[in-house]
Amino acid sequence: MSSATIEAPVRTSTSPMLQLTNLSVSYDGKPAVQNVTFSISSGERYAIIGESGSGKTTVCMAISGFLPRNATISSEERSFQGVPIGATKQKTLIAPRVPGVVTIFQDAMSSLDPVSTIGKQFTAVLNGVRKTSAKEAIERSEGILRSVGLHDVDRIWKSSAARLSGGMRQRVMIALALAAEPQLVIADEPTSALDASLARETMEVLSELTATTGAALLIVSHDIALCARYVDHLVVMRNGRVVESMTPQELAAQAPGSSYGRGLLDSIPTLSNWDVERLRTIDANQEFTA
Ligand SMILES: Nc1ncnc2c1ncn2[C@@H]1O[C@H](COP(=O)(O)OP(=O)(O)O)[C@@H](O)[C@H]1O
Ligand SMILES: [Mg+2]
Repeated sequence: MSSATIEAPVRTSTSPMLQLTNLSVSYDGKPAVQNVTFSISSGERYAIIGESGSGKTTVCMAISGFLPRNATISSEERSFQGVPIGATKQKTLIAPRVPGVVTIFQDAMSSLDPVSTIGKQFTAVLNGVRKTSAKEAIERSEGILRSVGLHDVDRIWKSSAARLSGGMRQRVMIALALAAEPQLVIADEPTSALDASLARETMEVLSELTATTGAALLIVSHDIALCARYVDHLVVMRNGRVVESMTPQELAAQAPGSSYGRGLLDSIPTLSNWDVERLRTIDANQEFTA
């Protein structure tokens, strides 16, 4: 792929930025995701919620073009900025990434290059967007690092990922993602390795930054309560399918136990239910009509 081109989006004002219609993915012939349909418009914040194994990561990889080789994908429509995703015959292990889409993975340590300095990684990302001088790279990354709440910029620039704390690494990952000037940020379980206050902070940083840059956000999480505070829309997945789709306000208005999503919310310990004898649980086979 040419390094200097993130092409101007081909868009019409009426079409959503991301459109998935009846997306299905199988691994070695075994269905992992079935008939998933949703769309995200510019600037919107979405969350995919669901238990482990429900297909969340698979949906993200289908959007970002990172599905592994044993995956078979089909859909009625799968497009970003009006351009079909994955319209390539190239059979590489990692498909070419979709211009304008960046993915932040759960484990910042394994996603960041452990050996090279953060500065070198910034320079590489910035040069991937457009040719950037060394001086410009330092200035730009300094601004981005500050925007994610990192102030010890000189030290970070010269450090390798291994020398940063977990919270700092997560912020550096977000900063690197933003340096790519994305139109859609996908964050797959960005907070599950963090303690509760860092998790909240990370969600705040992501949500604020997407608001200021106008990028859309797709967060993947099993923590419906956390997501409900920071996104505009929740898509709930179960066993590879979207079972519910609603706003956080609609979720809050549901009666306890009335839907699967509400069940996920009520099975999380909170300050208001910490003293109940047993948290609500969800039966694996329980059907919900909602
Ligand atoms: N690379 C893979 N090869 C085979 N099966 C996979 C692979 N990745 C995920 N799966 C299976 O696909 C299903 C959905 O997984 P995943 O998308 O990772 O769910 P989640 O992110 O919600 O935990 C699971 O049954 C999982 O075991
Ligand atoms: Mg996952």
